[in-house]
Amino acid sequence: MTAISARPIRFVLNGEERAVEGVATTTTLLEYLRRTERLTGTKEGCAEGDCGACTVLLAESDGAGGLHRRAVNACIQFLPAMNGRAIETVEHIGRDGAHPVQTAMVERHGSQCGFCTPGFVMQLHAGWLTGAISDRASVKDLIAGNLCRCTGYGPIIDAGLDLAAEPVPDTRAEDAVLSRRLRVIEGDAVFAYEQDGGRWFAPTNVDDLADLYAEYPDAVLVAGATDVGLWVTKQHRELPTLIDVSHVRDLRVIEEAGGRVYFGAAVTHREARDILADIHPDLGEMLRRFAGYQIRNAGTVGGNIANGSPIGDLPPCLIALGAVLHLRKGDDFRQVPLEDFFLEYGRQDRAKGEFVIAVEVPRLEDGQRFFAHKISKRLDSDISAVMAAFRLTVEGEGPGAPVTEARLAFGGMAGVPKRAARAEAALVGQPLGPDAIEAAVAAMAEDFTPLTDMRASAGYRLKTAQNLLRRFLLQEGGAPRMSLAEILPEAVGETAGAAS
Ligand code: FAD
Ligand code: FES
Ligand code: FES
Repeated sequence: MTAISARPIRFVLNGEERAVEGVATTTTLLEYLRRTERLTGTKEGCAEGDCGACTVLLAESDGAGGLHRRAVNACIQFLPAMNGRAIETVEHIGRDGAHPVQTAMVERHGSQCGFCTPGFVMQLHAGWLTGAISDRASVKDLIAGNLCRCTGYGPIIDAGLDLAAEPVPDTRAEDAVLSRRLRVIEGDAVFAYEQDGGRWFAPTNVDDLADLYAEYPDAVLVAGATDVGLWVTKQHRELPTLIDVSHVRDLRVIEEAGGRVYFGAAVTHREARDILADIHPDLGEMLRRFAGYQIRNAGTVGGNIANGSPIGDLPPCLIALGAVLHLRKGDDFRQVPLEDFFLEYGRQDRAKGEFVIAVEVPRLEDGQRFFAHKISKRLDSDISAVMAAFRLTVEGEGPGAPVTEARLAFGGMAGVPKRAARAEAALVGQPLGPDAIEAAVAAMAEDFTPLTDMRASAGYRLKTAQNLLRRFLLQEGGAPRMSLAEILPEAVGETAGAAS
């Protein structure tokens, strides 16, 4: 790695280049837009990624001459992370007269107090440009991370549907120009920024990341900042040295070989979704219900694992699938089964200066059945009370076929994402009949002593987890499939199973 010297933060804002100095490393994009640029159309509601009032459109070079666009919450994005990126705010989209989404919102009466409106407008604009709007279900998915307290969602959804009928402009020529410009700004060297003793580094390749983290092992790594952003906006934590992994191109790849899919740590949930849904549709549905669109556009697979949360949605699913975590420290590489990474609440098997490179996920093989289901208070955009994911391997067909392997993983049931070892043992070697099923369900009470918190009581958690297991095993044992979306489609609306 060559010597690093600090530089201003360079990005493109509403078509014009900026070079910013003199702001703290943990200044959020929203603070900068509102206080420095006086672009007050972008609102602050919650400052924690929940309400969507601060939605802006982010664009970066896709490495192939075009742009990768995604809507994000400006309230939890740090300004230095914008280096080499372009931001568009609500002030810009109507520069040549009313944008079709603005017209549709007016004609459909989609705004009353107007506080949420810029966020909805930007989210719908982003969905329109990226081809994410097709039908009512897709509009509902798109705006699941935007809150409106007065208008009600009906008129806003109608506005989104009107927008779907509008032709999307062909911006390829302008995109190519902006893409080249952003690539030049970002460059290949480590970006460094300093202010008042705070340091921000953004390497673009994994070797530079390894060197930097070895030099600053106490630094905080930041990827999509959907957790780390809140450490600043809600917990007011001081983060003297930050290393941004979201520009590391080697960590943003998805590769597949020999029936195993390799997700780079900085792959976002949005990017991972289609291939996870292809591994099993339950994984696609779990990710559709993972936070809102803007969070999925920023939050990463690596961040969801490395944060060690007992209620993260991906870890139980990946543990059930038998995923392996790839870690690196300096020039040392190692792999660990994902379930062994989580040691106890708040403690993971990760040394100082060691980081997640990727998670490797095997596809399902013949004879393997899978199930994943998220239990939360709200259907969309909510944190899990219980997350269950199961993989069962059965030898042969028919009622007498024995279970040869069971991987039953849960989130929300312990201080870490955890397998139900006793329930698994009750199943292995047995045919899936009532005896084995009830023995496994009963064994779960020995596997877990869940907590009571604001999301669910201990009793609710255990009963729900047992019932999810019973449902899966009964279905696999030949009982009819039970899905709320199939039994009561009107109760879950058109959102169930919809693409986002
Ligand atoms: P960051 O915030 O950037 O980092 C998180 C942690 O991981 C930090 O400790 C960081 O140092 C570390 N880290 C990041 N990358 C690496 C790496 N490569 N190696 C080592 N350490 C690393 N989570 C769910 O599971 N389900 C939900 O439904 C959900 N909903 C949410 C809704 C909202 C409104 C918000 C704000 C968050 C929600 N989350 C949810 C939590 C969060 O979005 C996820 O955990 C996300 O995957 C974190 O990824 P990130 O890239 O944003 O992580
Ligand atoms: Fe609520 Fe950003 S202010 S999501
Ligand atoms: Fe008032 Fe949506 S119009 S919050």
